[in-house]
Amino acid sequence: MPRKILVTNALPYANGDIHLGHLVGYIQADIWVRFQRMRGHSVHYVCADDTHGTPVMLRAEKEGLTPEQLIDRVHGEHLRDFTAFGVAFDNYHSTHSTENRFYAEDIYGKLRTGGLIDTRSIEQYYDPVKEMFLPDRFIKGECPKCGAADQYGDNCEACGAAYAPTELKNPYSAVSGAKPVLKTSEHYFFRLSDERAVAFLREWTRGTNAAGERRLQAEAANKMKEWLGEEGENTLSDWDISRDAPYFGFEIPGAPGKYFYVWLDAPIGYLASFRNLADKRAAAGETIAVEDYTDSARAAAAGTEMVHFIGKDILYFHALFWPAMLKFAGYATPSQLCVNGFLTVDGAKMSKSRGTFITAHSYIAQKLNPEWLRYYFAGKSNGTMEDVDLNLDDMIAKVNSDLVGKFVNIASRCAGFIGKRFDGRLGEFDASFELDYKLKWHSAFKTIVLAYEERDYGRALREIMHLADIANQYVNDHKPWELAKQEGQEARLHAVCSTALTMFRDLTCYLKPVLPALAFQVESFLAIPAMRWQEQWAPLPNGHAIQPYSHLMTRVERKQIDALLEANRESLAPAVTSAPVKEAKDAKVASSQQRHAEKQQHATQSAETAAAHISIDDFTKVELRIARIVNAEHVDGADKLIRLQLDIGETDDAGAPKPRQVFAGIKSAYDPASLVGRLTVMVANLAPRKMKFGMSEGMVLAASDPEGQTAGLFLLSPDAGATPGMRVK
Ligand code: 2FM
Ligand code: ZN
Repeated sequence: MPRKILVTNALPYANGDIHLGHLVGYIQADIWVRFQRMRGHSVHYVCADDTHGTPVMLRAEKEGLTPEQLIDRVHGEHLRDFTAFGVAFDNYHSTHSTENRFYAEDIYGKLRTGGLIDTRSIEQYYDPVKEMFLPDRFIKGECPKCGAADQYGDNCEACGAAYAPTELKNPYSAVSGAKPVLKTSEHYFFRLSDERAVAFLREWTRGTNAAGERRLQAEAANKMKEWLGEEGENTLSDWDISRDAPYFGFEIPGAPGKYFYVWLDAPIGYLASFRNLADKRAAAGETIAVEDYTDSARAAAAGTEMVHFIGKDILYFHALFWPAMLKFAGYATPSQLCVNGFLTVDGAKMSKSRGTFITAHSYIAQKLNPEWLRYYFAGKSNGTMEDVDLNLDDMIAKVNSDLVGKFVNIASRCAGFIGKRFDGRLGEFDASFELDYKLKWHSAFKTIVLAYEERDYGRALREIMHLADIANQYVNDHKPWELAKQEGQEARLHAVCSTALTMFRDLTCYLKPVLPALAFQVESFLAIPAMRWQEQWAPLPNGHAIQPYSHLMTRVERKQIDALLEANRESLAPAVTSAPVKEAKDAKVASSQQRHAEKQQHATQSAETAAAHISIDDFTKVELRIARIVNAEHVDGADKLIRLQLDIGETDDAGAPKPRQVFAGIKSAYDPASLVGRLTVMVANLAPRKMKFGMSEGMVLAASDPEGQTAGLFLLSPDAGATPGMRVK
C-alpha cells in the first residue's frame, strides 16, 4: 500500500541567511522524500519562512524596511538557496499568511474552548526608551553567579548558569542600552501542566506511528522522559504564548495589543504551507485532501502520516508544545520526529573569523557543486541526533575517490567504446557475470532500502560504494581498453561495456535520492526514463541506443575550498545579520542540553542580536589612545603597508620610551615621511597579530568610503592639546 506522507522541514527564520548548518537537516529530509517517492509513496513536502517576532521587527527597522518588505526579500533568498541545493519543496510559504492566521486562530480558539488557555499577570523587564518589553536575550548584564559581563538574560556563556533576567546584575537593554524597568502585563498561557496534556504526552512519546515505527529516536525519547519526569509527577510548566505590542505577528482574537508568540504560530506554518499548496494545486485541477492529514479522525481513517525533520535544538518545542496543541484542538498529531544534530566544521563550531560560517549562497557563488555537499552530508548521516562534522579535507577525499574515482569512472571507461565502436548501441549483458550480478545486487538492495528508510544514509552509501567496487573490479578484470586492441574481441568488448553500463545505471538509481541532478544527467546519457526504485533490475536491453558520453562530475580541488573559506571570512566579517532569539522560558523543563543547544545556536550571533545597537560596555571594551607616529617606513615586499612606530606613552623596564609597531594599510594615501611626528588615534588593546613582516601590535584609525579606497583614506587626528597615551572615550 502506498504511504501518504506530509513531510516538513523546520521553518528558517526570516532574518538570517541559510548556511551549511541549516542544510544538514534540509538535505536529510529531501533525500528521504526523494527515496519515498522513488518507492512509489505519495509525499507532500512543505516548508515556509518563520517570519514573526521581535528580532524580525528590529532587523526591518534597522534596514529601514517594513517587516513585510524584509520577509519578502528573505523569502526569495531562502528559496533560491534551497533550490540551488536540490532541496525541492512542493511549497515554500510564509507564517505571515492568511492560511497561518486561520490555523493559529482556529487552534487557539479550540484550546480556549477546551479550558487550556489561562491568563495571568507577569512582571517583565521593559525598555523605557524603546517602549517595549524585552525578550530574555535582549537583556544583558553581569552574570549573577560568576560576575561575567555582558551575559544574556537567560544564561551565562561564561559559567553556564541558567537564571531569570531579573537576577542579572546591572541589567541593560541590548536594544537601546537603557536600564530596563520591571512592568506588569497580562499574558496568555497554554496549560501544558494540565493533567490531560501530561497524560497525552506520556502516551504519545511511547507510541508508534501508522507505519509501525517509533515516533522518536532513542535519544529524543530519553529527553522526553527527562522532561516529563516519573509517572505521577508533573514537571511541565504552562507555556507563555502571548507577547505585548509592539510585536510583529498575529494579534490574539479578543485581546487587543496582545500577539501570538512567534513559537506558537511557527509550527502551525507547516499546516499553512500545506493548505496553500492544496489551494495552488486545486487551481490546476488537482485535489489534495488536506483534512486527511490535519484532522485527527480523518487522518486515522486515511492512514496518513505527518513527519517533521528538525534540529535537536528545537526538539522541546516539537515534542511537547506542538503535539499537545494539535491534540487538544482536534488536529492530527505528528507521526514521527526526525531530529538531526548540529554541524561542526573541521571539528569546531562554525566560526565567522575562520570563514567556516559558510552561507549556502557563497557556496553556490563560488561555483562549488551542491551535490558534493549532499553526498558528504549523506555519508555522515546515520539517523541519530549526533552532530555532523564537515571535515573539509575528508569531503574532498570522499567526493574525489567515491564519486569521481569509483562511480563516474565506470561510465567514463566504457561509454566511449559504445559510441565509437558500436554506433552508440548497447550489446548483450555478459552471461558469465549474470549470477554474480543477481546475487550481489539482490542482497545489497535490501540493506540499501532499509538504510534509506531509517535515514542511515551513511550505511546506504557504503553499500552502494561496495557495489561500485564490484563494478570497477569487473571492468578491471575484463579490461575493455585491451579488448579494443585485440582482433576478434568485438562481441566481448561490446558485452563488457554494456554490462558495466547496466551496473552504472543501477548505482545511479541507488544514488538518485542523494544526487538528483547527477542522476538526471545519467538518465539522459543512457536515454532512459526517470528511474523509480526496482527490486529486480533487468539489464539495459540489447540494441538500446545511448547518447554520447560527456563528463559527469569534476574533482574538488582544495583551492576551491580555500576560496570558499576566504569568501566567508571576508564577506561575513563586517555584515551585521541577526537571527531571532529563541526563548527558553520554562526554566523548569528547559534541560541543560537545550540550553547548550540554544547557546551554540546563538553564540555566533551574540554580537548581532543587539540589532542596531551596542551597549556602552561594549564600546568601552575598545581601548582607544592618542598615539604619536615616531617613525614610518615602507615595508619591502608589501604593496599596501606602512610600518609605523607609535608612542602611546609606554616605556620599557628601564623607563625608556617603547613605541608599538603597527602595520597599517595606508600606503596608497600617505608618504611615510609626511606621517612622522603627527598624532593619531590607535586601538591599543587589539590582540597582537603575527604578520609576514613582523608583529603588529594595534591598529590606527582611518576613514574611508564603504568600498575601500576609491575616495581616499583619512587618518584621524586629535585637536591640539591631546598628548600620546590619552584615552579616547
Ligand atoms: O529554530 C528555528 O530556526 C525556528 N525558526 C524553527 C521553527 S520550526 C517550526 F516550528 F516552525
Ligand atoms: Zn556566569
